[in-house]
Amino acid sequence: MAGEAQSWVLMATARAPTNIAVIKYWGKRDEALILPINDSISVTLDPDHLSATTTVAVSPSFKQDRMWLNGKEISLSGGRYQNCLREIRKRAGDVEDEKKGIRIKKEDWEKLHLHIASYNNFPTAAGLASSAAGFACLVFTLAKLMNVKDEHGDISAIARQGSGSACRSMYGGFVKWMMGNDADGSDSIAVQLASHTHWDDLVIIIAVVSSKQKETSSTTGMRESVETSPLLEYRAKTVVPGRVLQMEEAINSRDFASLARLTCADSNQFHAICLDTSPPIFYMNDTSHRIISLVERLNLSEGSLQVAYTFDAGPNAVLIAPNRKVAGLLLQRLLFQFPPPTDSELASYILGDKSILHEAGLQSMKDVEDLPPPVEIKDKVPSQKFPGDVSYFICTRLGSGPRLLTDENQALISPETGCPK
Ligand code: DP6
Repeated sequence: MAGEAQSWVLMATARAPTNIAVIKYWGKRDEALILPINDSISVTLDPDHLSATTTVAVSPSFKQDRMWLNGKEISLSGGRYQNCLREIRKRAGDVEDEKKGIRIKKEDWEKLHLHIASYNNFPTAAGLASSAAGFACLVFTLAKLMNVKDEHGDISAIARQGSGSACRSMYGGFVKWMMGNDADGSDSIAVQLASHTHWDDLVIIIAVVSSKQKETSSTTGMRESVETSPLLEYRAKTVVPGRVLQMEEAINSRDFASLARLTCADSNQFHAICLDTSPPIFYMNDTSHRIISLVERLNLSEGSLQVAYTFDAGPNAVLIAPNRKVAGLLLQRLLFQFPPPTDSELASYILGDKSILHEAGLQSMKDVEDLPPPVEIKDKVPSQKFPGDVSYFICTRLGSGPRLLTDENQALISPETGCPK
């Protein structure tokens, strides 16, 4: 190891997106390697609005591997972190930084320790796939620092061992996680189906639903479903294979009606499996159900599928609109039924791409208060309002995969101390 006498610190920083599944992963055939019982398909969300940023530093002066998440030190002793670190170290290559006079040989990586700092640009408590972005970012950044060559989706297979859905965050746009057949998991990898530019009109609106309930984690929930749900095997073997093919076709041909139909059906089937689990798991709450009804009513009144909804292991709704115009109509309806608290600002209720508010003709709280009941509910049901049931909305779009941040100012670790800034 050249430069050992001086105490140098070498770092890499990267950002990785979250993703939301439109065909869900639910159930493992191998718990330790995180191998799924069916293929899944996701869309990657714009990292400007929902992503993790991670800096990994290496130095001969570090005594042990350490990690800080959102500013707090966390333990790396868990099996998932250990598996990711071991697998990536195995594939490390020679690294040379001529400017700094640092040379690390392949075999040195086993002896060198790492400091890792990571943060999410969205609240972890919001229950928005933070582990997917987090593990994807960790593995991507480690691979860059250690000069790991990505052959045959190896890197996504390592991210998978951190959290299954993380493998899909290794690419932008539309991504398929192929379940694979090999017992060692080497063919259980993510592949990109199409980049985000292939279908860039799509608008995503996320309703972060207020919830006091402690939810069952995805890991525990899917284990219980595998053990007790008789419907789960039927879904994995009989339903998903056909749906995956149809979804790929819908993405290829940018057929929004098919994408919406399959997305809603698959979300509903996943939650049906949760209900079929013993004891039953309830991820959606009354607010989630009201959002489904709102979308179903909108679709029915327009006579075609205008908006898709999907829900993961929690009550938050992820809504997909085919373009900004429909997203504006959707936002009007959402804000009519779930208005912001009266003393709040519209700007802190709608996060992300706020320009959708203009599309909806909503500039101020007064505009929201003056919203007429949507045509499809007028005279049919009392136009009930539920202020406070949604914490906030995030307007976003599809986005690209992980990327290195080369500006040293964006690093989360100080090159002087080797600890978080
Ligand atoms: C409902 O990837 O969080 O979001 O592999 O145990 O870490 P582990 O689970 P995780 O499960 C995600 C489940 C889901 C559906 C999906 O993203 O496909």
